Amino acid sequence: MIFIRAGNYTKFGERYGQDLFDLAEEAVDKIKDQGLDLGKIQALVVGNMLAQQLSHQSQLGAILAYRLGLKVPAIRTEAACASGGTAVWTAIKLIQSGQFSDILVIGAEKMTDYPTKVITRALSTAGYNYSDVAFQISFPATYAIYANYWLDQGWIDKKTLFHIAAKNHYYASLNPQAQFQNQINYQIYRQANLVAYPLNLFDCSPISDGAAALWLSNKPGPKSIRLIGAKLATGPNSPHFNPELNGLPASRKAARKLYRQAKIKAGDIDLVELHDCFTIAEAMAVVDLGLMEKKDLARFYSYYWQKKKPPQGKPVINSSGGLKACGHPIGATGVKQVAEIYLQLSRQAGRRQIKKANIGLSHNVGGSGGTVFLSLWKKYQGGQNE
Ligand code: COA
Repeated sequence: MIFIRAGNYTKFGERYGQDLFDLAEEAVDKIKDQGLDLGKIQALVVGNMLAQQLSHQSQLGAILAYRLGLKVPAIRTEAACASGGTAVWTAIKLIQSGQFSDILVIGAEKMTDYPTKVITRALSTAGYNYSDVAFQISFPATYAIYANYWLDQGWIDKKTLFHIAAKNHYYASLNPQAQFQNQINYQIYRQANLVAYPLNLFDCSPISDGAAALWLSNKPGPKSIRLIGAKLATGPNSPHFNPELNGLPASRKAARKLYRQAKIKAGDIDLVELHDCFTIAEAMAVVDLGLMEKKDLARFYSYYWQKKKPPQGKPVINSSGGLKACGHPIGATGVKQVAEIYLQLSRQAGRRQIKKANIGLSHNVGGSGGTVFLSLWKKYQGGQNE
Protein backbone atom coordinates (compact mmCIF):
# COMPACT_ATOMS: atom_id res chain seq x y z
CA MET A 1 0.00 0.00 0.00
CA ILE A 2 1.07 3.60 -0.59
CA PHE A 3 0.21 6.44 1.74
CA ILE A 4 0.64 10.18 1.83
CA ARG A 5 1.91 11.08 5.28
CA ALA A 6 2.28 14.84 4.68
CA GLY A 7 1.36 17.23 1.87
CA ASN A 8 1.02 20.97 1.42
CA TYR A 9 1.85 23.92 -0.82
CA THR A 10 3.15 27.46 -0.59
CA LYS A 11 1.19 30.59 -1.24
CA PHE A 12 0.83 30.81 -5.05
CA GLY A 13 1.14 34.08 -6.99
CA GLU A 14 3.90 36.58 -7.59
CA ARG A 15 6.54 35.59 -5.03
CA TYR A 16 8.89 38.49 -5.59
CA GLY A 17 12.40 37.99 -4.20
CA GLN A 18 12.08 34.21 -3.87
CA ASP A 19 13.68 31.90 -6.38
CA LEU A 20 12.73 28.39 -7.41
CA PHE A 21 14.76 26.78 -4.62
CA ASP A 22 13.39 29.12 -1.93
CA LEU A 23 9.86 28.14 -2.96
CA ALA A 24 10.68 24.43 -3.01
CA GLU A 25 12.24 24.66 0.47
CA GLU A 26 9.24 26.59 1.76
CA ALA A 27 6.95 23.77 0.62
CA VAL A 28 9.19 21.20 2.31
CA ASP A 29 9.19 23.28 5.52
CA LYS A 30 5.39 23.21 5.46
CA ILE A 31 5.32 19.41 5.38
CA LYS A 32 8.01 19.23 8.05
CA ASP A 33 5.46 21.02 10.23
CA GLN A 34 3.07 18.14 9.43
CA GLY A 35 5.64 15.56 10.58
CA LEU A 36 7.96 14.92 7.61
CA ASP A 37 11.12 13.20 8.84
CA LEU A 38 13.79 13.92 6.19
CA GLY A 39 15.91 11.15 7.74
CA LYS A 40 13.43 8.57 6.37
CA ILE A 41 13.53 9.83 2.77
CA GLN A 42 15.20 7.45 0.30
CA ALA A 43 14.68 9.35 -2.98
CA LEU A 44 13.63 12.78 -4.24
CA VAL A 45 11.52 13.43 -7.34
CA VAL A 46 11.10 17.02 -8.56
CA GLY A 47 8.45 18.11 -11.08
CA ASN A 48 9.31 21.21 -13.10
CA MET A 49 8.89 22.43 -16.68
CA LEU A 50 10.48 25.82 -17.19
CA ALA A 51 13.62 26.07 -15.04
CA GLN A 52 16.01 25.90 -17.99
CA GLN A 53 14.13 28.57 -19.91
CA LEU A 54 13.17 30.96 -17.08
CA SER A 55 15.70 30.30 -14.29
CA HIS A 56 18.72 29.17 -16.38
CA GLN A 57 18.86 26.12 -14.18
CA SER A 58 18.75 22.39 -14.75
CA GLN A 59 19.79 19.52 -12.38
CA LEU A 60 16.99 20.42 -9.99
CA GLY A 61 17.01 16.96 -8.39
CA ALA A 62 20.65 17.02 -7.35
CA ILE A 63 20.68 20.68 -6.31
CA LEU A 64 17.56 20.40 -4.18
CA ALA A 65 18.80 17.16 -2.60
CA TYR A 66 22.01 18.95 -1.63
CA ARG A 67 20.19 22.01 -0.28
CA LEU A 68 17.90 19.80 1.80
CA GLY A 69 20.81 17.73 3.10
CA LEU A 70 19.50 14.56 1.42
CA LYS A 71 22.16 12.09 0.29
CA VAL A 72 19.71 10.08 -1.85
CA PRO A 73 18.99 9.49 -5.56
CA ALA A 74 17.19 12.51 -7.03
CA ILE A 75 15.60 13.17 -10.41
CA ARG A 76 13.47 15.77 -12.19
CA THR A 77 10.43 14.93 -14.33
CA GLU A 78 9.10 17.07 -17.19
CA ALA A 79 5.79 16.71 -19.05
CA ALA A 80 4.73 20.32 -19.59
CA CYS A 81 1.82 21.20 -17.26
CA ALA A 82 1.77 17.56 -16.08
CA SER A 83 5.38 17.75 -14.84
CA GLY A 84 4.12 17.61 -11.23
CA GLY A 85 1.79 14.69 -11.96
CA THR A 86 4.59 12.70 -13.55
CA ALA A 87 6.70 13.35 -10.43
CA VAL A 88 3.95 11.83 -8.26
CA TRP A 89 3.55 8.92 -10.71
CA THR A 90 7.32 8.26 -10.66
CA ALA A 91 7.36 8.22 -6.85
CA ILE A 92 4.42 5.78 -6.79
CA LYS A 93 6.23 3.46 -9.22
CA LEU A 94 9.47 3.64 -7.22
CA ILE A 95 7.67 2.59 -4.04
CA GLN A 96 5.76 -0.12 -5.92
CA SER A 97 9.09 -1.49 -7.20
CA GLY A 98 9.82 -2.46 -3.60
CA GLN A 99 13.20 -0.73 -3.63
CA PHE A 100 12.15 2.50 -1.90
CA SER A 101 9.95 2.98 1.14
CA ASP A 102 9.75 6.76 1.51
CA ILE A 103 9.96 9.40 -1.20
CA LEU A 104 9.84 13.17 -1.13
CA VAL A 105 8.03 14.72 -4.12
CA ILE A 106 8.41 18.42 -4.87
CA GLY A 107 6.75 20.40 -7.66
CA ALA A 108 8.04 23.92 -8.23
CA GLU A 109 7.93 26.71 -10.78
CA LYS A 110 9.13 30.32 -10.88
CA MET A 111 7.42 32.23 -13.72
CA THR A 112 6.66 35.84 -12.83
CA ASP A 113 10.13 37.33 -13.31
CA TYR A 114 9.46 37.62 -17.05
CA PRO A 115 6.90 39.50 -19.17
CA THR A 116 3.82 37.52 -20.29
CA LYS A 117 5.13 37.41 -23.89
CA VAL A 118 8.31 35.54 -22.86
CA ILE A 119 6.39 33.11 -20.64
CA THR A 120 3.80 32.45 -23.35
CA ARG A 121 6.59 31.54 -25.74
CA ALA A 122 8.29 29.27 -23.20
CA LEU A 123 4.96 27.53 -22.47
CA SER A 124 4.28 27.00 -26.16
CA THR A 125 7.25 24.62 -26.34
CA ALA A 126 4.84 22.10 -24.79
CA GLY A 127 3.10 22.04 -28.17
CA TYR A 128 4.32 20.26 -31.25
CA ASN A 129 7.50 21.84 -32.61
CA TYR A 130 6.54 21.69 -36.29
CA SER A 131 3.10 23.22 -35.90
CA ASP A 132 2.11 24.87 -32.60
CA VAL A 133 5.58 26.20 -31.82
CA ALA A 134 6.46 27.18 -35.40
CA PHE A 135 3.24 29.20 -35.67
CA GLN A 136 3.51 30.44 -32.08
CA ILE A 137 0.12 29.06 -31.11
CA SER A 138 -0.23 29.92 -27.43
CA PHE A 139 -2.05 27.83 -24.83
CA PRO A 140 -4.98 30.29 -24.65
CA ALA A 141 -5.28 30.02 -28.47
CA THR A 142 -5.17 26.23 -28.28
CA TYR A 143 -8.01 26.04 -25.75
CA ALA A 144 -9.91 28.76 -27.65
CA ILE A 145 -10.18 26.23 -30.51
CA TYR A 146 -11.91 23.81 -28.14
CA ALA A 147 -14.08 26.58 -26.65
CA ASN A 148 -15.26 27.77 -30.08
CA TYR A 149 -16.09 24.23 -31.13
CA TRP A 150 -18.02 23.51 -27.92
CA LEU A 151 -19.93 26.82 -28.23
CA ASP A 152 -20.72 26.09 -31.91
CA GLN A 153 -21.98 22.62 -31.06
CA GLY A 154 -24.18 24.03 -28.30
CA TRP A 155 -22.42 21.87 -25.69
CA ILE A 156 -21.63 24.91 -23.54
CA ASP A 157 -22.57 28.59 -23.32
CA LYS A 158 -20.67 31.64 -22.12
CA LYS A 159 -22.73 31.85 -18.91
CA THR A 160 -21.54 28.36 -17.94
CA LEU A 161 -17.91 29.36 -18.58
CA PHE A 162 -18.54 32.31 -16.23
CA HIS A 163 -20.07 30.00 -13.60
CA ILE A 164 -16.94 27.82 -13.74
CA ALA A 165 -14.62 30.81 -13.28
CA ALA A 166 -16.77 32.33 -10.53
CA LYS A 167 -17.03 29.02 -8.62
CA ASN A 168 -13.24 28.68 -8.66
CA HIS A 169 -12.73 32.29 -7.52
CA TYR A 170 -15.22 31.59 -4.69
CA TYR A 171 -13.16 28.63 -3.44
CA ALA A 172 -9.93 30.62 -3.84
CA SER A 173 -11.40 33.32 -1.59
CA LEU A 174 -11.52 30.66 1.17
CA ASN A 175 -7.94 29.50 0.56
CA PRO A 176 -5.14 31.70 1.99
CA GLN A 177 -2.61 29.93 -0.28
CA ALA A 178 -4.51 30.92 -3.45
CA GLN A 179 -3.19 33.57 -5.85
CA PHE A 180 -6.54 35.39 -6.08
CA GLN A 181 -8.67 36.13 -3.03
CA ASN A 182 -11.32 38.08 -4.93
CA GLN A 183 -14.72 36.81 -6.04
CA ILE A 184 -16.11 37.84 -9.44
CA ASN A 185 -19.59 38.56 -10.82
CA TYR A 186 -20.96 38.41 -14.37
CA GLN A 187 -20.37 42.11 -15.02
CA ILE A 188 -16.70 41.88 -14.05
CA TYR A 189 -16.35 38.73 -16.17
CA ARG A 190 -18.06 40.24 -19.25
CA GLN A 191 -15.96 43.40 -19.18
CA ALA A 192 -12.57 41.64 -18.89
CA ASN A 193 -10.00 41.87 -21.67
CA LEU A 194 -10.18 39.31 -24.44
CA VAL A 195 -7.17 36.95 -24.48
CA ALA A 196 -8.00 34.54 -27.35
CA TYR A 197 -11.57 34.63 -28.65
CA PRO A 198 -13.85 33.56 -26.95
CA LEU A 199 -11.64 33.27 -23.82
CA ASN A 200 -11.10 36.38 -21.72
CA LEU A 201 -8.90 37.09 -18.69
CA PHE A 202 -11.22 35.24 -16.30
CA ASP A 203 -11.36 32.17 -18.52
CA CYS A 204 -7.58 31.75 -18.12
CA SER A 205 -5.37 30.42 -15.37
CA PRO A 206 -2.75 33.02 -14.40
CA ILE A 207 1.04 33.07 -14.49
CA SER A 208 2.23 32.01 -11.03
CA ASP A 209 5.15 31.19 -8.77
CA GLY A 210 4.77 28.40 -6.24
CA ALA A 211 5.74 24.99 -4.96
CA ALA A 212 4.14 21.92 -3.41
CA ALA A 213 5.52 18.92 -1.54
CA LEU A 214 4.37 15.42 -0.57
CA TRP A 215 5.77 12.64 1.61
CA LEU A 216 4.86 9.28 0.06
CA SER A 217 5.50 6.16 2.08
CA ASN A 218 4.72 2.44 2.19
CA LYS A 219 3.72 2.88 5.85
CA PRO A 220 0.88 5.01 7.25
CA GLY A 221 1.35 7.76 9.84
CA PRO A 222 -1.07 9.57 12.13
CA LYS A 223 -2.85 11.58 9.39
CA SER A 224 -2.48 9.48 6.27
CA ILE A 225 -4.47 8.95 3.12
CA ARG A 226 -4.15 5.83 0.98
CA LEU A 227 -3.62 5.45 -2.77
CA ILE A 228 -6.34 3.38 -4.43
CA GLY A 229 -5.29 3.87 -8.05
CA ALA A 230 -3.07 5.87 -10.41
CA LYS A 231 -2.77 6.09 -14.20
CA LEU A 232 -0.48 7.95 -16.56
CA ALA A 233 -1.72 8.16 -20.15
CA THR A 234 -0.63 9.87 -23.36
CA GLY A 235 -2.72 11.18 -26.25
CA PRO A 236 -2.88 13.82 -29.00
CA ASN A 237 -0.85 16.82 -27.87
CA SER A 238 -2.75 19.38 -29.91
CA PRO A 239 -6.33 19.99 -31.10
CA HIS A 240 -5.31 19.45 -34.72
CA PHE A 241 -4.27 15.87 -33.88
CA ASN A 242 -7.49 15.30 -31.96
CA PRO A 243 -10.14 14.46 -34.57
CA GLU A 244 -13.12 14.69 -32.22
CA LEU A 245 -12.49 17.97 -30.33
CA ASN A 246 -15.08 16.75 -27.82
CA GLY A 247 -12.56 16.18 -25.05
CA LEU A 248 -9.13 14.75 -24.34
CA PRO A 249 -8.86 11.04 -25.27
CA ALA A 250 -6.06 10.46 -22.72
CA SER A 251 -8.28 11.71 -19.87
CA ARG A 252 -11.16 9.47 -20.93
CA LYS A 253 -8.97 6.40 -21.39
CA ALA A 254 -7.12 6.90 -18.09
CA ALA A 255 -10.35 7.50 -16.13
CA ARG A 256 -12.00 4.31 -17.43
CA LYS A 257 -8.94 2.22 -16.50
CA LEU A 258 -8.51 3.96 -13.14
CA TYR A 259 -12.07 3.37 -11.94
CA ARG A 260 -11.77 -0.27 -12.96
CA GLN A 261 -8.43 -0.60 -11.12
CA ALA A 262 -9.80 1.04 -7.95
CA LYS A 263 -13.14 -0.81 -8.21
CA ILE A 264 -15.15 2.39 -7.88
CA LYS A 265 -17.68 4.31 -9.96
CA ALA A 266 -17.33 8.00 -10.86
CA GLY A 267 -20.31 8.62 -8.56
CA ASP A 268 -18.28 7.43 -5.53
CA ILE A 269 -15.85 10.37 -5.77
CA ASP A 270 -16.34 13.15 -3.20
CA LEU A 271 -13.83 15.70 -4.46
CA VAL A 272 -11.83 16.32 -7.60
CA GLU A 273 -8.86 18.59 -8.18
CA LEU A 274 -8.90 18.86 -11.96
CA HIS A 275 -6.90 20.66 -14.62
CA ASP A 276 -8.90 23.84 -15.31
CA CYS A 277 -6.11 25.73 -17.08
CA PHE A 278 -9.00 27.42 -18.93
CA THR A 279 -12.71 27.38 -18.06
CA ILE A 280 -13.44 25.24 -21.13
CA ALA A 281 -10.82 22.74 -19.89
CA GLU A 282 -12.84 22.23 -16.68
CA ALA A 283 -16.01 21.54 -18.70
CA MET A 284 -14.12 19.07 -20.90
CA ALA A 285 -12.58 17.39 -17.85
CA VAL A 286 -15.81 16.76 -15.92
CA VAL A 287 -17.23 15.05 -19.02
CA ASP A 288 -14.03 13.10 -19.80
CA LEU A 289 -13.84 11.91 -16.19
CA GLY A 290 -17.40 10.56 -16.39
CA LEU A 291 -18.70 12.92 -13.69
CA MET A 292 -21.55 14.16 -15.92
CA GLU A 293 -22.73 14.41 -19.49
CA LYS A 294 -22.43 17.52 -21.66
CA LYS A 295 -26.17 18.15 -21.46
CA ASP A 296 -25.89 18.51 -17.65
CA LEU A 297 -23.13 21.15 -17.65
CA ALA A 298 -25.27 24.31 -17.69
CA ARG A 299 -27.63 23.11 -14.92
CA PHE A 300 -24.81 21.72 -12.77
CA TYR A 301 -22.67 24.86 -12.83
CA SER A 302 -25.60 27.25 -12.45
CA TYR A 303 -26.71 25.37 -9.31
CA TYR A 304 -23.12 25.17 -8.04
CA TRP A 305 -22.61 28.91 -8.43
CA GLN A 306 -25.88 29.88 -6.79
CA LYS A 307 -25.71 27.46 -3.85
CA LYS A 308 -21.91 27.48 -3.44
CA LYS A 309 -21.98 23.70 -3.32
CA PRO A 310 -22.46 20.92 -5.89
CA PRO A 311 -25.86 19.28 -6.38
CA GLN A 312 -26.56 16.23 -4.18
CA GLY A 313 -24.48 13.21 -5.23
CA LYS A 314 -21.93 15.20 -7.26
CA PRO A 315 -18.33 15.89 -6.17
CA VAL A 316 -16.81 19.15 -5.03
CA ILE A 317 -14.64 20.42 -7.88
CA ASN A 318 -11.42 22.32 -7.23
CA SER A 319 -11.81 23.24 -3.58
CA SER A 320 -8.36 24.89 -3.78
CA GLY A 321 -9.65 27.40 -6.35
CA GLY A 322 -8.20 25.30 -9.16
CA LEU A 323 -5.59 26.45 -11.62
CA LYS A 324 -7.92 29.32 -12.51
CA ALA A 325 -7.89 31.07 -9.16
CA CYS A 326 -5.46 29.24 -6.85
CA GLY A 327 -2.85 29.68 -9.59
CA HIS A 328 -0.87 27.53 -12.01
CA PRO A 329 2.88 27.39 -11.31
CA ILE A 330 3.29 24.75 -13.98
CA GLY A 331 5.54 22.10 -12.35
CA ALA A 332 3.89 22.58 -8.95
CA THR A 333 0.30 22.05 -10.12
CA GLY A 334 0.13 18.23 -10.31
CA VAL A 335 1.75 17.93 -6.86
CA LYS A 336 -0.46 20.64 -5.37
CA GLN A 337 -3.61 18.90 -6.63
CA VAL A 338 -2.65 15.78 -4.66
CA ALA A 339 -1.62 17.93 -1.66
CA GLU A 340 -5.07 19.58 -1.69
CA ILE A 341 -6.71 16.14 -1.69
CA TYR A 342 -4.44 15.17 1.22
CA LEU A 343 -5.44 18.32 3.16
CA GLN A 344 -9.15 17.65 2.52
CA LEU A 345 -9.17 13.92 3.29
CA SER A 346 -7.03 14.37 6.43
CA ARG A 347 -9.29 17.23 7.58
CA GLN A 348 -6.65 19.98 7.50
CA ALA A 349 -8.26 22.25 4.87
CA GLY A 350 -9.38 25.11 7.13
CA ARG A 351 -12.28 27.29 5.93
CA ARG A 352 -12.71 25.30 2.70
CA GLN A 353 -12.90 21.91 4.47
CA ILE A 354 -15.38 19.57 2.80
CA LYS A 355 -17.37 17.57 5.36
CA LYS A 356 -17.31 13.77 5.15
CA ALA A 357 -15.03 13.59 2.07
CA ASN A 358 -13.75 10.04 1.67
CA ILE A 359 -12.45 9.62 -1.90
CA GLY A 360 -10.53 12.26 -3.92
CA LEU A 361 -9.39 12.30 -7.55
CA SER A 362 -6.54 14.36 -9.04
CA HIS A 363 -6.42 15.13 -12.80
CA ASN A 364 -3.32 16.80 -14.27
CA VAL A 365 -2.92 17.50 -18.00
CA GLY A 366 0.22 18.36 -19.97
CA GLY A 367 0.29 19.95 -23.41
CA SER A 368 -3.49 20.08 -24.04
CA GLY A 369 -3.85 16.32 -23.69
CA GLY A 370 -0.38 14.95 -24.51
CA THR A 371 0.06 13.66 -20.95
CA VAL A 372 -2.63 12.94 -18.37
CA PHE A 373 -1.98 11.82 -14.80
CA LEU A 374 -4.86 10.66 -12.60
CA SER A 375 -4.68 9.49 -9.01
CA LEU A 376 -7.33 8.33 -6.56
CA TRP A 377 -6.95 8.59 -2.78
CA LYS A 378 -9.00 7.41 0.15
CA LYS A 379 -9.23 8.57 3.72
CA TYR A 380 -7.28 6.10 5.90
CA GLN A 381 -8.37 5.13 9.36
CA GLY A 382 -5.77 2.56 10.28
CA GLY A 383 -7.51 -0.05 8.18
CA GLN A 384 -10.78 0.31 10.15
CA ASN A 385 -14.06 1.61 8.81
CA GLU A 386 -12.55 2.44 5.45
N1 COA B 1 -7.36 35.73 -13.93
C1 COA B 1 -7.70 36.81 -13.20
N2 COA B 1 -6.91 37.90 -13.10
C2 COA B 1 -5.72 37.87 -13.72
C3 COA B 1 -5.29 36.75 -14.47
C4 COA B 1 -6.17 35.66 -14.55
N3 COA B 1 -5.85 34.58 -15.26
N4 COA B 1 -4.06 37.01 -14.98
C5 COA B 1 -3.72 38.23 -14.54
N5 COA B 1 -4.71 38.75 -13.78
C6 COA B 1 -4.75 40.06 -13.17
C7 COA B 1 -3.47 40.45 -12.49
O1 COA B 1 -3.49 40.10 -11.14
C8 COA B 1 -3.45 41.94 -12.71
O2 COA B 1 -4.33 42.53 -11.75
P1 COA B 1 -3.97 43.96 -11.09
O3 COA B 1 -3.90 44.92 -12.23
O4 COA B 1 -5.10 44.16 -10.14
O5 COA B 1 -2.63 43.75 -10.45
C9 COA B 1 -4.10 42.14 -14.07
O6 COA B 1 -4.92 40.98 -14.26
C10 COA B 1 -3.10 42.24 -15.21
O7 COA B 1 -2.12 41.21 -15.04
P2 COA B 1 -1.04 40.90 -16.14
O8 COA B 1 -0.07 39.91 -15.56
O9 COA B 1 -0.51 42.18 -16.72
O10 COA B 1 -1.91 40.16 -17.26
P3 COA B 1 -1.49 39.75 -18.70
O11 COA B 1 -2.47 40.34 -19.63
O12 COA B 1 -0.03 40.02 -18.94
O13 COA B 1 -1.68 38.17 -18.65
C11 COA B 1 -2.95 36.25 -19.27
C12 COA B 1 -2.97 37.60 -18.54
C13 COA B 1 -4.31 35.61 -19.10
C14 COA B 1 -2.66 36.45 -20.77
C15 COA B 1 -1.83 35.36 -18.63
O14 COA B 1 -2.11 35.17 -17.28
C16 COA B 1 -1.74 34.02 -19.32
O15 COA B 1 -1.06 33.88 -20.34
N6 COA B 1 -2.37 32.98 -18.78
C17 COA B 1 -2.32 31.63 -19.34
C18 COA B 1 -1.11 30.90 -18.83
C19 COA B 1 -0.98 29.57 -19.49
O16 COA B 1 -1.14 29.45 -20.70
N7 COA B 1 -0.67 28.52 -18.73
C20 COA B 1 -0.58 27.19 -19.24
C21 COA B 1 -1.95 26.64 -19.41
S1 COA B 1 -2.03 24.95 -19.88
